[in-house]
Amino acid sequence: MSHRPAWAPDDIDLERPAPARMYDYYLGGSHNFAADRELAEKALGAWPELPQIARGLRAFLRRCVTFLVEQGVDQFLDLGSGIPTAGNVHEIVSALNPRARIAYVDSDPVAVAHSKLLLKDTPNARIVHADMRDAGAVLTDPALDGFLDLSRPTAVLMCAVLHFVPDSDDPAGVVAAYREATAPGSYLAVSHGTRDYLPEQIRNLQEVYSRSSAPMTFRSHAEIMDLMQGYELVPPGLVDFILWRAETPNPLPDPLGGDVTRYSGYAAVGRRDE
Ligand SMILES: C[S@@+](CC[C@H](N)C(=O)[O-])C[C@H]1O[C@@H](n2cnc3c(N)ncnc32)[C@H](O)[C@@H]1O
Repeated sequence: MSHRPAWAPDDIDLERPAPARMYDYYLGGSHNFAADRELAEKALGAWPELPQIARGLRAFLRRCVTFLVEQGVDQFLDLGSGIPTAGNVHEIVSALNPRARIAYVDSDPVAVAHSKLLLKDTPNARIVHADMRDAGAVLTDPALDGFLDLSRPTAVLMCAVLHFVPDSDDPAGVVAAYREATAPGSYLAVSHGTRDYLPEQIRNLQEVYSRSSAPMTFRSHAEIMDLMQGYELVPPGLVDFILWRAETPNPLPDPLGGDVTRYSGYAAVGRRDE
């Protein structure tokens, strides 16, 4: 039986490992439980570079959000936002445009509780506790009413979250629902794990995650391209995420020496033209 820390919401199952808290563990955070750490250690056995991957994904998030602010976007819907850590979207965005608004969405109660705490004195950012697969529920949540104006361009972020949506839950349909709800000139940013390089090792990692609350589906380059239909990808298109606009000063060095196979993930930003 796990010890329940004072900050743990009452309604969570401490014995069921959750990807949000495993990711927090890889990033060196403290908002995880024994069951999360145990499964995270097994995942590290299958893929020892997960901490470097998590940091690389955060660095991509920083680069893509900076790019989007530079395009004039001032509204962000961050789906699967995670447990707050260094370099959260509202911090990056607000430093560049203090009037911009950021709505976070996560299904993990710990991510939501910590985001609420962090955002309590931050009027330009808020968190919604919802399942991003249900776009209708997310977009009609009362917390977003009058907060985001979807008749104006909005950036939808799906960073390191679509690989938690299995094919049986129609990930293309999920993406399309957000695309249709947002105005022309809106953007979609995606980072996504791939099985293109090391399929055997990915199978082992998928096996580990099948014991968590959200199993993972790693996809090919072509499959991820398909998910982004209806968006015009900005250069350089869908590429290894450490290479996406890597010329922008990157706050973190590349600890894996540019070996894209060890990161095994792609990223892209697309613009909705019509
Ligand atoms: C790997 S973390 C990514 C965090 C952040 N987006 C980033 O790029 O660093 C994935 C997050 O997605 C959340 N998540 C997974 N499936 C979800 C769903 N169906 N709805 C909402 N959040 C989800 C998890 O709880 C977790 O916090």
